[in-house]
Amino acid sequence: MNGLDRGFANYGDVAFSRFLRRSFLHASGRSPESLERPVIGIATSPSDFNPCHRAMPELVASVERGVLAGGGLPMQFPTVSLGESFLTPTSMVFRNLMAMDVEEMVRAQPMDAVVLVGGCDKTVPAQLMGAFSAGRPAIQLVTGPMSTGRYHGERLGACTDCRRFWARYRAGEVDDVEIAEVERNLATTAGTCAVMGTASTMACVVEALGMALPGSATAPAVHADRLRVGEATGAAAVEIARAGRTPDQVVTPASVRNALRVLLAIGGSTNALIHLTAAAGRLGLRIDPDELNALSDTTPVLVELKPTGDHYVEDLHASGGLAAVLHELRDLLDLSAPTVTGKTLGDVLGDGPRWVDRAVVRPLADPARPVGGLVWLTGSLAPQGALIKRSAADPALFETTGRAVVFTSLEDLAARIDDPDLDVAPDDVLVLQNAGPRGAGMPEAGYLPIPGKLARAGVKDMVRISDARMSGTAYGTIVLHVTPEAAVGGPLALVRNGDRVRLSVREGRLDLLVDEAELARRREALPPPAPGPATGYGRLFHEHVLGADQGCDLDFCVPAVPSEPSRS
Ligand code: FES
Ligand code: MG
Repeated sequence: MNGLDRGFANYGDVAFSRFLRRSFLHASGRSPESLERPVIGIATSPSDFNPCHRAMPELVASVERGVLAGGGLPMQFPTVSLGESFLTPTSMVFRNLMAMDVEEMVRAQPMDAVVLVGGCDKTVPAQLMGAFSAGRPAIQLVTGPMSTGRYHGERLGACTDCRRFWARYRAGEVDDVEIAEVERNLATTAGTCAVMGTASTMACVVEALGMALPGSATAPAVHADRLRVGEATGAAAVEIARAGRTPDQVVTPASVRNALRVLLAIGGSTNALIHLTAAAGRLGLRIDPDELNALSDTTPVLVELKPTGDHYVEDLHASGGLAAVLHELRDLLDLSAPTVTGKTLGDVLGDGPRWVDRAVVRPLADPARPVGGLVWLTGSLAPQGALIKRSAADPALFETTGRAVVFTSLEDLAARIDDPDLDVAPDDVLVLQNAGPRGAGMPEAGYLPIPGKLARAGVKDMVRISDARMSGTAYGTIVLHVTPEAAVGGPLALVRNGDRVRLSVREGRLDLLVDEAELARRREALPPPAPGPATGYGRLFHEHVLGADQGCDLDFCVPAVPSEPSRS
């Protein structure tokens, strides 16, 4: 009896259903004995529209070798694939679609465990969300990061360097020929973005959460270590299947806290907080904003990777990988947290790597930054919260009260940001409305460009506020995920040109300094919400998406939270 005997269609003759299923499987030419082994589903997500997954076939073959060596029966199946730069209006809309695909296919198909193979930004969160809801034994395997390219003696990696060069191009410092050459050298291998963007952040978060093998997060996509990790993951999946180790046995409040610590210590992407919130939410675990801030204030940034430092993920791998970070953090982690291996985090950590490049992973006593990257803000402009990545921001702007320059939509932003007549000064606060989950699918538009005339005058950073997200590879004094979003009538919708807005990172506040009577008058005058798509998945998303504070999941996918947040 194995997974193949799970969930037969009941037409009154179960033995016939079994006979039929096995008959069809014999068409694959597998030996009759192999059909008695634990069935290991391998959820793959290759696509020509997802170059980050280009090496997936070879990686999946390594997983199959591991499954076979472990005594299992590997069974690949495809799901939706999400290539970050190729989806309109934004990949974020489709994360929940992929999560549904993964959930239903893991649940509907007969398997004893599943290996989730993903990499690009939204794929790993989608796979975790789906697998957590499906409740089958599962293990995550990431595709691994790209290796860096070279340009005129300089290393380049997608996509922090993309932004750096593009900013210089906008400022007139780089010409058309140069930018074309840079374009061809930013992403030169298979794999996910080469910096600590969302993909690598999620890879580290998943390892810290205990859902991936120790040492698996950072091996580059084209490195032999990646294939070794693939084999080991395949073999582990067989053991996980035999043990019946389901995600709810692995992901606990302690492991979520550890994952948050790691997210902070690596200076990770703001998106990862949304994704971790959504994935943990599938298991009924909540992330408490106050706890996030408390962790942030007590977790130094240890990793010197772009966008906040100078190195790339391949350098972290060469420096002991995430284990080097976990080892430094060990006194701040709950080492009793379980992992998918069946051992505790403390057990799998062992003595840590024998050599660490201290330019890449700083010691706890001499960190890159004394406090963690993320700060949750609340206040009259964001009653349910907003987020700033202080590790990517300019401390000189942490305490700012400025005049709002408002853009009412993405279209308005595109039309006016470079207008030479735009009334804007360097100490103003740029505000973008209607770019949240319901308003626009929550694209990575929070990294508002510096208005053209200010960029040319040398302005590099300004306070920018929106209900959008920001790429994990971006940097700047950028307040994101303002909730409730403008499109559902949040206070962000009430900001007008010339209002005073106050940001205080120290106090964790974001306030609109306009009196309540005036705000009430503006609220009255708000137009009715724009209708969403009339049909299909777009309609489902529009009608059911939750706010960023709830991970932008679909309301009907989230189980009722039994009691208190992740502290319990
Ligand atoms: Fe796929 Fe960055 S675009 S990981
Ligand atoms: Mg990204």
